[in-house]
Formats: sequence, C-alpha cells, structure tokens
Amino acid sequence: MCGIVGYIGNKDVLPILMDGLKRLEYRGYDSAGVAILDEGKIKVIKQVGKIAALETELNGNSTSGKMGIAHTRWATHGEPNQVNAHPHTDESGNIILVHNGIIENYNALKKMLVSKGHTFHTDTDTETVAHLISEFFQNGTSFEEAFRAALNEIDGTYGIAMITKHEPEKIYCARKGSPLVIGVGEGENFVASDASAIIAHTRNVIYLEDGEIAIISREGFVTKTIDNKTVTKRIEKISFDLERIEKAGYPHFMLKEIHEQPDTVADAMRGRLIEEEGVAKLGGLTPILHNVLRARKIFITACGTSYHAGLVGEYMLEQYCRVPVEVEYASEFRYRDPIIEDDNLVVVITQSGETADTLAALREAKRKGTTVMGLVNVVGSSIARETHGGTYIHAGPEIGVASTKAFTSQVAALTLLTLMIARTKAMSAEEGRSIVKEMKTLPEKVAQALKTDETVKKIAEEFKEKRNFLYLGRGYNYPVALEGALKLKEISYIHAEGYPAAEMKHGPIALIDEDMPVVVIATRDSTYEKIVSNIEEVKARKGRVIAVVSEGDDKLDKLVDYTIPIPMTRDLLQPIISIIPLQLLAYHIAVLRGCDVDQPRNLAKSVTVE
Ligand code: G6P
Repeated sequence: MCGIVGYIGNKDVLPILMDGLKRLEYRGYDSAGVAILDEGKIKVIKQVGKIAALETELNGNSTSGKMGIAHTRWATHGEPNQVNAHPHTDESGNIILVHNGIIENYNALKKMLVSKGHTFHTDTDTETVAHLISEFFQNGTSFEEAFRAALNEIDGTYGIAMITKHEPEKIYCARKGSPLVIGVGEGENFVASDASAIIAHTRNVIYLEDGEIAIISREGFVTKTIDNKTVTKRIEKISFDLERIEKAGYPHFMLKEIHEQPDTVADAMRGRLIEEEGVAKLGGLTPILHNVLRARKIFITACGTSYHAGLVGEYMLEQYCRVPVEVEYASEFRYRDPIIEDDNLVVVITQSGETADTLAALREAKRKGTTVMGLVNVVGSSIARETHGGTYIHAGPEIGVASTKAFTSQVAALTLLTLMIARTKAMSAEEGRSIVKEMKTLPEKVAQALKTDETVKKIAEEFKEKRNFLYLGRGYNYPVALEGALKLKEISYIHAEGYPAAEMKHGPIALIDEDMPVVVIATRDSTYEKIVSNIEEVKARKGRVIAVVSEGDDKLDKLVDYTIPIPMTRDLLQPIISIIPLQLLAYHIAVLRGCDVDQPRNLAKSVTVE
C-alpha cells in the first residue's frame, strides 16, 4: 500500500524516480509526487491520479538533481488530491518526506504542534512527521537526533524516506511495520518500499527491520536502531529478473500472470517431490520440522485470496493428515485471543509477506509461544523473516492487484505440506506416490485449462452487463467459488458472492431469476451428483447457469446454459485447475466493461494498514 522510491548518486534522479514509481504503481495510484534536491533547492512536484498524470505535470520541468524521493499514494487520511499527495514538508520547506503506513497518534501530535505554532496544510497524518522532526531540530539537537526523537514519539506504522536542506548529501530512512529496502550501488544508493522499484539498478539490497533507520549517502550507508545502537546488516541478492516484472507483450499484468501458471505451479513443486517415496520435502521447515509434523492442531490465518487458499488447505490437511484445522481471517485472529496451545502450529499465508493484519496475527501467535510457519511469495518480506520457518511458493513477482498465480502456487505448496505431514501418519507410500504422480501432471493440465480462454470470452460478452453473480461449489471447489466471486468483484465492480452450493437454499436462492448468472463448479468428484441437484434447483427458478465441468462430461450440456470443460484431477488438486476459467472470466468481463484490470479502484496490492 503506497510506494516509496529514493535515490542519491551521480545520475539524473528524475528518470530513476519515475521508473521506480511506475514499477510501484500497483501499490497505490490515487496521486503521486517527487521531491528533488537540485543546487541546494528542493523542488516538489505532485499530481492527483496515476503516475502518467505526474509525468504530464513534469513535462518541461527540467532538473539536473542527483538525489530525490518519490511516492505513489493509496489514501488513508485525507482525500486523494494534489495537496494530500506526498512528499510532505515542514513549515520551512526544508524537511521533506514520503511515508507509507499510518501515524495512529497524529491527532494528538498535531494538536501539540499547532499549539507550538506549526501550521498544517494537508489532511494527512504524514505531514505531522515533518513538523515533528523540525520541532525537535529547533531544540538545538543534531538533525539525526531530531529524526530519531521524532520517530520515538510516533505510534503506528511507517516506512519513511526523507531529505533535508540541512544535510543535502543524505537520505534518512526509517521503518516500523512498513517495509523498506536499501539498494546498494557503486557511488549511488537507493531506498524503496519494494525491491521491484530498484532492481533495474542494483540487485544488492539490505532489508531494514522494524525499529531501524538507515542514513544513506552516495558513498554508503549507516544503519542503526532508533535508539542509536549501530546495527550491521547483511547485503542480500535479489534473485528475480527484470523480465518478471514486465508485461512481456500482454495487455495487462493480470493476464500475463494467469498465463504464467503452468510454470509457476511447476516452480512451487520444483525439487520438492520425491516420487519413489511418495512424499514432499520442504527445506525451509527443517528448523521446525518436529513441531510441524507433530502439531495437534493447525491454525491457518491469512487475508483475501490467501485466505481462500487456506480454506483449500483445511480440507486437505484434515482429510489426509487427520489433524484439526481452523482457518481464520488474520484481522479476526489477531484480536479475538484464540486458544492456541504449545503443540499447535500456526500457518500464515501471504503473497506479499507484508499484509498488516497477517503480520500482526503472526506476532500474536508467536507471543502465545506457538510455532509459526509461513507460506510466502515475496522473498525477504517481513513475514518471511519473522516466521520460525517457512516455504516460499516461488510464484515470482505478482503485480496485478487481483491475485491469480499466487493462489494456485499457494494451493500447490499446501499440497506439499499435506503430503509431508500425511506420510508420517496414516498415508501409505502407494497413496503418496499416486498423489505425487498426479501433481506432476498439473502444469500440463493448467495449460490445458487456459485453452478455455475463447469459450470464456464469449460467456463474458454475454454476461458483462449483469449486476450480480452467484458462484457455487462444494468440497474442495467451495473455496474456488469464493475466490472466483472475489476475482469478479475486485476488478469488474460487479457484485458477486460465493457460496457452498447446498447453502444456496438458505438464502441466495431468493435472488435467483432469469437475470442472475450462477457460476457452478461441477467437476466430477465425490460431490458431483449433489451439485447436479443444486444446478436443477437453480434452473427450476430460471437462473442462467455457467458450469465448469470435467472434460468429457456431457451430462450437463442440456441442463445448463454454458459449460466450460477443464481437465480432471484428484479432488485435492482440482482447485488449481478449476480456478483458471474463473480468473479468465473475471478478467474478460472487466476488460469488456472498460475497467482498469491491473489497478482496480480502491484496492491495493499490498495492504500494509489494518
Ligand atoms: C489485498 C490484495 C489481495 C490479497 C490480499 C492478501 O487485498 O489485493 O489480492 O489476496 O491483500 O494479501 P497477501 O499479500 O497477504 O496475500
């Protein structure tokens, strides 16, 4: 949520900042701004709307500045307009900063600062920080002391990058709850909220931890805690390539990411399946292996799409490992004081590794003394670093705000976890081998499912103007119904609800008429006959049914309006295939309705506020 990029070096800063902002735009896009230090003067240029609007504003604005900071915003405090866009400054205009996160006590701080004569110009919480630093600086302290003193007064979360005329050769950075990465170059250094903003320039990074600050200059950087204790940081290498964060000829990142799934599903399993033994091996769990294998209860906690993957995980872990599983939204888990015992396991699932509620849920679980494992996509993210052990899903950077490839990779990784645990319990080697064998066919089956694109496009054309959709599924396909509905509402702004098919009779059936498209996942599995009865119930009320069916199953052809045939697989793996046409359906409907698929209104890729 929101994006930060900053640079200090000997190159023209503006193109570096603008390129970084474009790569971060998926994190926030209601306004953007830059601050550049040029010949002792700081120029601030901001604009409401997308980065392209800022670019237009910057046209003809020449600068030879070699250092600066920039921000793309997802509004929390104050409406998205030019004044509220970052960067924000203190009274004198000498202290300029960009901020991700929320300053929770900004009202109290603002009151205090106003009483001391500060005048505020924006509705943001961020402006308070600039004034606060200047307040401490007036008291005759060094600039660094003022910076640290101000941070000590702040409750809430922040990732901050700040420049100041008082020390024109430095960028001050700080992190608490909102990620910041320092990019280490030669004669130049970078700061960003996300490595994708700087990977075109350097692969050497350090990740700041909560409570740490970094002061970067052309020649190097200093890292310490806000209490002034020096910390030595390890330089890490970013492993993904630039191509992975570009569109590669696709009109949208979302479509590119949908089509990457044969590869990303393969990547999630790569090197982790041992076919002869019918088992999976997850190296990242080694330090906590005993607790993972022997957990007497498993909690899965996550948000959004990751939560839906967690629901699939619940079904498979209970079925094959015979261990009770509870899946809960992280926002609920963190506050409701769940009963967690020492011999339980908490699994946090997150694509970004930065979701504020998930991070807080993880910390709450650790506080209660239980083992916490992560299922994370972004390497080096906060959640990846704070868990006791974990598994990367290796889906590569996901830029489209609507999560697609992360879901299938999360489900694949959950299957690996299930296999690993189940084989130490009742699952036979033969059963394990059969699952492993089937898992190896998944990339090909996903590729096959992507071939439904043309059929799905036609369906999208017919239904694109509908105002409501219902998605139904049973068993393993129930979470798929939830995820399909989420995809549609996220990017097309059509109201959509997912339901367990049988539950339809307890409410949603009242909505069904000839105007109501009902998407039913009716693949051939143990619940097939039951779901056919549910389809009959919809048709009896003149509902329009789009059924995702198993290839070769023509039984439903006459009953429903459209069928989308997809390859069959074992029940626990079916969600990886069934979700594909639903992702495509949401995509095509949104495109046909003229929606901005990669940057849907009001949503952010990484939700770092609670
Ligand atoms: C946001 C994104 C969703 C994502 C959810 C959880 O709402 O728009 O696509 O599923 O956050 O994010 P995480 O990174 O924790 O998986």
